[in-house]
Amino acid sequence: MDLLKLNDGNEIPTMGYGLGTANYKSDGSSPPDKELVKTVVMAVNTGYHHLDGAEVYGNEAELGQAIKESGVPREKLYVTTKISGTKVQDTQEAFALSLKKLGLDYVDLYLIHAPFFAKTPEDLQAKWADMEAIQASGKAKTIGVSNFLKPDLEAVLKTAKVIPAINQIEYHPYLQHGDLVDFHKKHGIATAAYGPLTAAVKAKPGPLDATYEELAKKYGVTPGEIALRWVIDQGMVVLTTSSNEQRLKDYQKVSQFKLTPKEVEEISEIGKKKHFRGFWLDKFAADDKS
Ligand SMILES: NC(=O)c1ccc[n+]([C@@H]2O[C@H](COP(=O)([O-])OP(=O)(O)OC[C@H]3O[C@@H](n4cnc5c(N)ncnc54)[C@H](OP(=O)(O)O)[C@@H]3O)[C@@H](O)[C@H]2O)c1
Repeated sequence: MDLLKLNDGNEIPTMGYGLGTANYKSDGSSPPDKELVKTVVMAVNTGYHHLDGAEVYGNEAELGQAIKESGVPREKLYVTTKISGTKVQDTQEAFALSLKKLGLDYVDLYLIHAPFFAKTPEDLQAKWADMEAIQASGKAKTIGVSNFLKPDLEAVLKTAKVIPAINQIEYHPYLQHGDLVDFHKKHGIATAAYGPLTAAVKAKPGPLDATYEELAKKYGVTPGEIALRWVIDQGMVVLTTSSNEQRLKDYQKVSQFKLTPKEVEEISEIGKKKHFRGFWLDKFAADDKS
């Protein structure tokens, strides 16, 4: 899998396997889910060495167990976790608990899951200072944010000593967030896209169906693989997930072809004809494209 260089000099694999959505465990204190461990081991052995976890997914213990059982050396894996973005809590304590559950002594990437816990810009700035301290301790190689919009990033940038390396957002042709991605580029913040298959799976039927089919035929892949490639070909990181081994293997095909800039542009333009958001629906109005 290709690597993307981040603003702190570290590199991140451009395609990651997500422990959220389908793998989400609502009761994090319940006994370890052996099936979930098996699924994640399968994903690692299929070639997904970038694993996207989070405190709120309730499955850091399973992720840690899968890392051990996979037999892949820790340093060959790229492990992300996130501090809850809705709960007010002590950052150091939450991070220490995440490391303990994961059974790791460091993560490659630590993210603030969302800005929704903050009542004021100062709350965001204080949380970011905590993240900077964690990075300085060496226990998180890279730090970043998730679900931040421009005003949230602007607040953080006002006092930041370290620019966030990444903003992980829902991103697909039907949710392109206006000028947020340009703002990322201007500040050297990488974009990581979750929900990348939305236009090919959840939001069907839609204006992109025929284009995805045509391109899938041209490259001998599925529309899902076109959807993933559209993200990577914009210089972004893509996060996907599946419990289906064949599908995960097939998704590895995304490293074997590239869309032309014209095809990327065509998908972007057609995508703007429909608006669809699949996550955090309680935080955004139905017509909010930000
Ligand atoms: N930061 C955040 O707030 C946030 C929010 C959401 C997600 N994420 C992260 O991003 C990761 C990926 O998100 P996502 O699950 O939305 O990604 P996605 O890759 O867009 O969707 C994956 C889902 O699509 C299904 N799927 C794939 N191909 C399909 C097909 N051909 N037909 C029908 N269903 C198909 C998969 O089911 P099968 O198991 O059947 O393949 C899986 O449930 C999450 O796991 C999480 O780590 C982060």
